[in-house]
Amino acid sequence: MADNTRREIDLRAAINAISDVVQNRPRPLREMDQIYMKTGDMVIQSELVARWATDKRLAFIGDGDAISVCVAYLKERGIIDYGPSKIVVFDFDERIVNAVERFADKERLERLQSTLYNCFDAFPDVGHFDCFYTNPPWGASNDGMSVEVFAQRGMEAIGYDGEGMVVIADDDDLAWTQTVLANTQRFGIESGFYVNRMMPKMHMYHLDDAPDLKSCNLVFRSLPNAKPPRPSEAITDPERLEHFYGKKNHLKVRYVKQKKRLDYGKAHEDEYEFEKLGD
Ligand SMILES: C[S@@+](CC[C@H](N)C(=O)[O-])C[C@H]1O[C@@H](n2cnc3c(N)ncnc32)[C@H](O)[C@@H]1O
Repeated sequence: MADNTRREIDLRAAINAISDVVQNRPRPLREMDQIYMKTGDMVIQSELVARWATDKRLAFIGDGDAISVCVAYLKERGIIDYGPSKIVVFDFDERIVNAVERFADKERLERLQSTLYNCFDAFPDVGHFDCFYTNPPWGASNDGMSVEVFAQRGMEAIGYDGEGMVVIADDDDLAWTQTVLANTQRFGIESGFYVNRMMPKMHMYHLDDAPDLKSCNLVFRSLPNAKPPRPSEAITDPERLEHFYGKKNHLKVRYVKQKKRLDYGKAHEDEYEFEKLGD
């Protein structure tokens, strides 16, 4: 049922806030399937996530898009008056972890933290969260196995008790997206969850070779009488890491380390040179 008590959002203020976050994002590594969501969709997605996770502890399993930052920032700026009580981003890219920390520090977003973590490893904070969000590698070449790895870490984060939003490809003309959607739903059910909501074809991305490819929100909820948290373990089956980021692009990297501190909103010195007047 629609919530009619919600006040209207100042759209200009919301877009400008998301624009601040976009300026702070490191450039995406295509080989690691970092493909950023378009800005208009980020505005809608952030508001939706903030409402969904109001007063909850929310874990992000990977977050190159920086939806975590948008959610925290919209609330801190008073553009929305609801949102999670705590947000932690778990990502294997130190540039992303540092970008989140830097923004949180600058804007005093006390509820927002980030930590370096590869979902290959056992999850460090089992059961410390109420809900999880993940926009994982979409598993086009491994039937969604990479989605399952990220979703599993999310389920561990909430101790298999609560809700999770999984953002994956959704296209009526691409067979692989339908296979992955079915496999992800099956995995959720086998893990003690059911699909509580499916919001089809919600988001678009900066993806040159498939600019029209959209993603959906697949929301899982744990079944009543959820099982007690299981211990989290590192992945030992190498098959789960194959074609993780695309054909023959297996998961081999533990961390993406930052080489130098960059101000992502400004041109880098090595991008240009001045040809002076009179030269
Ligand atoms: C793979 S991308 C998926 C596309 C998404 N739109 C994005 O760009 O964030 C999602 C996030 O997962 C992170 N990631 C990729 N592989 C990971 C891994 N093995 N462990 C933890 N995080 C990972 C990436 O750094 C990125 O921030």
